[in-house]
Amino acid sequence: MTTPPILLTGGTGTLGRHVLPLLRATGHDVRVLSRHPQPDPPQGDGARVEYVTGDLLKGEDGDGIQSAVDGTEIVLHLAGGPKGDEVATRNLVRAASRAGVRHLVLISVIAADRVPLGYFTSKLAAEEAVTASGLPWTVLRAAQFHDLLLTVVEKMAKLPVIPVPGLRLQPVDSREVAARLVELTLDKPAGLVPDLAGPKVYESADAIRAYLRVTGRKRPLLPVRMPGKAGRVYRADGNLSLDGTDLGTRTWEEFLESRFLTDAVPPRP
Ligand SMILES: NC(=O)c1ccc[n+]([C@@H]2O[C@H](COP(=O)([O-])OP(=O)(O)OC[C@H]3O[C@@H](n4cnc5c(N)ncnc54)[C@H](OP(=O)(O)O)[C@@H]3O)[C@@H](O)[C@H]2O)c1
Repeated sequence: MTTPPILLTGGTGTLGRHVLPLLRATGHDVRVLSRHPQPDPPQGDGARVEYVTGDLLKGEDGDGIQSAVDGTEIVLHLAGGPKGDEVATRNLVRAASRAGVRHLVLISVIAADRVPLGYFTSKLAAEEAVTASGLPWTVLRAAQFHDLLLTVVEKMAKLPVIPVPGLRLQPVDSREVAARLVELTLDKPAGLVPDLAGPKVYESADAIRAYLRVTGRKRPLLPVRMPGKAGRVYRADGNLSLDGTDLGTRTWEEFLESRFLTDAVPPRP
């Protein structure tokens, strides 16, 4: 008897592109949901990859979501954007309930329940859609990925003076998050598991200086105060996960060196 494929949403994104080969290497067929038609992947002898098209924000009926979920028992939900993750997750949950999914895994963000900013509250509502679904579930909250921090810092470094909010960060390597998610997906539903953050906590100024150093740039840094309730949460380290947290091994500096230096430091196994 063949095993049903694992449905992977977000399999075309930064995190999902690391997850897909790892999942496939475990011998499981994978069905990847994307809003855009994807070219047929090379298949080889091992587990198969199939792409299906659907938009989680448009609902599950007639938009490819129900047919993407039907015939699967395990769903790894990574699809996300700046807005509407709670709507997308509710639509997925509805389709998964109809299909009798036996394990739904969600990636969320550290401090989803503490930081009063749209992205975080949307992630919290997505978690709530999963935890209230009646489906067996696992939720992993991860810190900001190195890739995201790099995108932000690169934009800031285009300015003649870099504004630096007084906050701390614990960025994590997206490949380490991917590996943890694959373990969790193939294990029993575990509820809310320990957060996964990077190995070091950085002052934002130090994280920016590391980028400037490795890219050979010079920019003055201008400390700025983050306003409002969110600013208070960040100043009190409310965005960090400092207790009972799983820590990755790859530092921000190692990530930067592998991106920008020719004699790159290979990622630690
Ligand atoms: N980046 C971080 O620092 C960070 C930290 C913690 C948690 N997370 C969470 O991790 C997940 C992946 O993040 P990422 O950085 O890899 O994201 P990303 O690179 O922006 O990729 C987003 C993925 O979501 C899919 N997607 C977006 N909207 C969709 C929709 N309406 N219907 C179906 N698919 C949709 C995209 O697929 P198509 O474009 O092919 O449709 C793409 O595969 C997100 O849920 C994010 O919130 C990210």
